[in-house]
Amino acid sequence: MPVGAFEQRGVVLSTRFILDCDTGSDDAVAIFAAVGHPDLELVAVTTVNGNVALDHVVANTLGALDHVGARVPVYAGADRPFIRPDLPIPREVLNRDSDFQMAGLGFPEAASAVETGTAADFLVGAYLDDAYADVTLVATGPLTNVAVALASEPRLAERIPRLVVMGGAHGNGNVTAAAEFNFWADPEAAQAVLSAGVREVVIVPLDATHSAPLTDADCDAFERIGTPAARGAATLIRHRLDHDQATAERAAPVHDPLCVAYLARPDVVTERVRAFVSVETMGDRTVGELVVDTRPWCPEPPNATVALRASADVYRDFLETALGAG
Ligand code: RIB
Ligand code: CA
Repeated sequence: MPVGAFEQRGVVLSTRFILDCDTGSDDAVAIFAAVGHPDLELVAVTTVNGNVALDHVVANTLGALDHVGARVPVYAGADRPFIRPDLPIPREVLNRDSDFQMAGLGFPEAASAVETGTAADFLVGAYLDDAYADVTLVATGPLTNVAVALASEPRLAERIPRLVVMGGAHGNGNVTAAAEFNFWADPEAAQAVLSAGVREVVIVPLDATHSAPLTDADCDAFERIGTPAARGAATLIRHRLDHDQATAERAAPVHDPLCVAYLARPDVVTERVRAFVSVETMGDRTVGELVVDTRPWCPEPPNATVALRASADVYRDFLETALGAG
């Protein structure tokens, strides 16, 4: 039975979670899967500046939920990093997915609207409410909203039951040799969150996401499923195959849905390590680097589980179930 799922009289109840995201293409696939999987309940979505500017993140998020006919409350969050005035390299210079808008891929303009109130205020209100005591927080963008929420209400560290984060790299980064985008875009937020003492932290870094890449054949399979979620996922993943770190054989990591997969299928993670983790906030060449201290004599107790490898077969099985439902 998946971690966090609850069973009553033999019936597996859904794993309830909030998704904090910076909707680009892989966040959108994560949303499709979160809405569709029978063992998951997406309670709310909070949005953060990241892949694209906040207004586009919000529009992409609303558009993704509209595409699969989901009525899930969406909150607008931080439009800039926690401490810094901007990303370490401004988006327009970095030219990273800066123009990604779902409408540009044939998805309809969003019809729904965001809720009133900020993402951080929603997170604080939710996790101070006992009704959210079992609700996992999944973060697939820069950790700015989570850092702001924890800074304004430190009790959240004890009240968030589990935090699953797509971010970091134990091996190669993607924005720089050392740093992965989510932790690089807001390194102070990442360090603040990972050092806040949240009860259970699971990090899904590039090491895991790159070990389970998706391919054109997977997109063909999703298109054969034929649901709006599956066809939409195929469109978005092919966009990544055309624009991201696709290799010669047309395989690309689709990072964010792997965090959602972990909720329903924790067996998707095949290798992990418990370690004391921290994030570099100062280095010219290493800012945003996830430092995983696996030294046997590390003076600090472990504060996170770091997923090092994932099963592509389990990942595909999860996606086919989740995308086939809606
Ligand atoms: O580095 C990959 C991560 O950065 C993914 O979450 C992607 O959506 C971007 O946010
Ligand atoms: Ca993301």
